[in-house]
Amino acid sequence: MVENTETAGTALSNEPIQPLPPPPALDPRKLALGKQLFHDPRLSRDQKTACATCHNLKLGGADGKPRSLRPGGMATPVNTPSIFNAMLNFRLFWDGRAGSLAEHIQGPMEDTGTDWEVALQRLRQDASYVSAFSAAYSDGLTVAAVQDALVTFERSLVTPNGRFDRYLRGDQNAITAEEKEGYRLFKAYGCTACHQGVNAGGNMYQKVGVMGDYFDKRGDLTPADLGRFNVTGLERDRHMFRVPGLRNVALTAPYLHDGRIKTLEDAVKGMSKFMLGRPIEPREVKLIVQFLHTLNGEYDGQPL
Ligand code: HEC
Ligand code: HEC
Repeated sequence: MVENTETAGTALSNEPIQPLPPPPALDPRKLALGKQLFHDPRLSRDQKTACATCHNLKLGGADGKPRSLRPGGMATPVNTPSIFNAMLNFRLFWDGRAGSLAEHIQGPMEDTGTDWEVALQRLRQDASYVSAFSAAYSDGLTVAAVQDALVTFERSLVTPNGRFDRYLRGDQNAITAEEKEGYRLFKAYGCTACHQGVNAGGNMYQKVGVMGDYFDKRGDLTPADLGRFNVTGLERDRHMFRVPGLRNVALTAPYLHDGRIKTLEDAVKGMSKFMLGRPIEPREVKLIVQFLHTLNGEYDGQPL
């Protein structure tokens, strides 16, 4: 009896993907303020674009568009990544140019066109913000406090306890036999050479098209396609991108930095061709896609 229970409950500790941690303990007042700010369009230049316009928590933390619209009508140069689990990535952005959420929020807010001093003046007109900030921060409503509240909220956006994590923790029934086979193939094909760790990615850079020229096939080269080269100017960084995490990936179509790949099936096929240089059978693509769906997690105790 006891033995059975233990076998069923043994966590799989030597897997290339590890379960997501629970969100860190955070000051509830700062968290509530950050959540409100994240959804507040007054931070943006046109006062119409909130962080959540592009990072919609109901759409997997992204917006379902190939590229998003910035205030003023310009498209973002790249696809909007999910904000969920972002702080678990080793660097931020497709080209890794920001090191942390705090660094990002203090840098130029190109996607919202935010001028922090202008935004602060707007928020100061709102008595409820003024009193809530006085309660949460010793200096009250300041640019630093606004930025800190946003980062606090971002740090809460972890999606633990998905079916795959329950499987890793030892619940054999959390995923089906087909999903297990998909995971086996994911490892056997070598996807885990790049998509690994708690975020199933997000912990290294890799060249897009290591085994074939994706950009030649696609055509229409943009400056953003140069990837990390734009940050370092080094030839070896041409077309280098941060490997994206695959958590909740089934919810964040379209795919890749250019948002050109519409379905998960096509993303898996493309990876096989350009990153591994191997043909893959449709049946195997389907199984891997089934496995990828088990990476959907929970936010605030609810499935995404
Ligand atoms: C117009 C759409 C848009 C808006 C509005 C927007 N973002 Fe983004 N966000 C993006 C895009 C596009 C990227 C990827 C940029 C890149 O990689 O060069 C991104 C990347 C990020 C990242 C890095 C994620 C990662 O894993 O690399 C964070 C963090 C982030 N945004 C937070 C915010 C916050 C906070 C706000 C509000 C102040 C905001 N964003 C508003 C489109 C948007
Ligand atoms: C050599 C490293 C490498 C290998 C191996 C690899 N990937 Fe990727 N993967 C990447 C990189 C880098 C990107 C981002 C490419 C881009 O945006 O242009 C990516 C993107 C993806 C995406 C799209 C994610 C998104 O949010 O847009 C999926 C899905 C994916 N990979 C699945 C797989 C699968 C399945 C395999 C195995 C068949 C695999 N990958 C093998 C590096 C790799």
